[in-house]
Amino acid sequence: MEFKTIIEPFRIKTVEPIRHTTRAYREQALQDAGYNLFLLKAEDVLIDLLTDSGTGAMSSAQWAGMMLGDESYAGAKSFYKFERAVQEITGFKHVIPTHQGRAAERILFGSVLKPGDMVLNNTHFDTTRANVEYRQGTAVDIPIPEAHQPDLIHPFKGNMDLEALEAHLRDHWEYIAMVMITVTNNSGGGQPVSMGNIRAVSELCRHYRIPFFLDACRFAENAWFIKTREEGYADKTPLEIAQEMFSCADGCTMSAKKDGMANIGGFLALNNDEWANKAKTMLVITEGFPTYGGLAGYDLEAIAVGLHEALDEDYLRYRIRSVAYLGDILTANGVPIVQPPGGHAIYIDAKAMLPHIPPLTYPAWALSLILYLEGGVRSVEIGSVMFGLHPDGTETPAAMELVRLAFPRRVYTQSHVDYLAEVILHVNTLRDKIGGLRIIQQQPALRHFTARLEPLGSSR
Ligand code: F0G
Repeated sequence: MEFKTIIEPFRIKTVEPIRHTTRAYREQALQDAGYNLFLLKAEDVLIDLLTDSGTGAMSSAQWAGMMLGDESYAGAKSFYKFERAVQEITGFKHVIPTHQGRAAERILFGSVLKPGDMVLNNTHFDTTRANVEYRQGTAVDIPIPEAHQPDLIHPFKGNMDLEALEAHLRDHWEYIAMVMITVTNNSGGGQPVSMGNIRAVSELCRHYRIPFFLDACRFAENAWFIKTREEGYADKTPLEIAQEMFSCADGCTMSAKKDGMANIGGFLALNNDEWANKAKTMLVITEGFPTYGGLAGYDLEAIAVGLHEALDEDYLRYRIRSVAYLGDILTANGVPIVQPPGGHAIYIDAKAMLPHIPPLTYPAWALSLILYLEGGVRSVEIGSVMFGLHPDGTETPAAMELVRLAFPRRVYTQSHVDYLAEVILHVNTLRDKIGGLRIIQQQPALRHFTARLEPLGSSR
């Protein structure tokens, strides 16, 4: 007999209390935080879905591994364990540890981009885009057109638009420094990229001799979608699928805070000797010696174990199902979300839910505030606050107005998700009463982290 209930494939050894607050308390907390959820105190949040990055629970094997951490400045045993784990999965020649994903991005782009260079991506994550633009490069997003239709169901909505890629390569190849594919496509709804698409992009890049990199943060979740959705992969292990994905690329940037199952860490891995040498020089100047790259030996141990745990089939089945479980409840009750549910998160389509709020008064931001106010739930806006402001100071609406509910790995159980669903369905009944906001203070880049806002209609 095979039972159909998919259970959390772990039991809980350590617990961390979470704290209920009153609605009045949260109202004050929001005001104090300038209506920016990034500026809240985490202890004032009941269920924290701000990010799945660095927020996961480590396993007993990871904690045990940490006790083996070799803290030698150079040539530590922990580095070689880390390097072996990364190479077994990615096959890349050079493995450069960094303190997190954006450090890998900065080191890569800082080593190879010239002003005016272009980087093409299915969709740049915000730090990736910021790092390209910081080097005076141009970050171009070319997802398939289906990616812009939140309610459209497509098995691999994270795919890159091959025609657009070919046109760019043909017309601008001399300015294109590299092509990247982000797996899964975080800013586009946590949507997977098919092996067929990765392979086709790889072939085009080889033809035009343009380096091809993966932004591999959620490589294991992407591998699971390939296994369950793409023909020919059902009998392959997630590890085999991941290896095949990486074999198509010349390198990758990675935040080990996601599918590395660690609280901190990342890496840049690549085959090109010259680029690796440049990157290592930059690493020594700003991160640390190449065998630790800003991490403790024990962090390298945790990642070495975590990378393989992320590829465990029982874990991936539970992981992807627990996100889809919330998606199913919301869909059944008429809450518009990006379809189908992504790997690490549910994205509520605020444009569809709050059509009365114009994009530049930030509907998704407004919705994320109400979810906190009503239920103590913290989410993140992926919309015009995050993406609306351009380097030249102009502001235009983002392609989509989404509220992301990102699931930390191995942290919340099904009753947390049931509570969450109840909060969202309640907020959905209030939707006509939700209003927009204006920004009263902001930074020129990555403004969402620090901006202060006020509800429209309120006076300062
Ligand atoms: N690339 C992608 C696709 C990401 O999702 C992230 C981080 C990064 C790069 C940068 O990695 O945070 O380790 O420096 N995403 C987090 C999130 C922050 O909430 O989605 P990092």
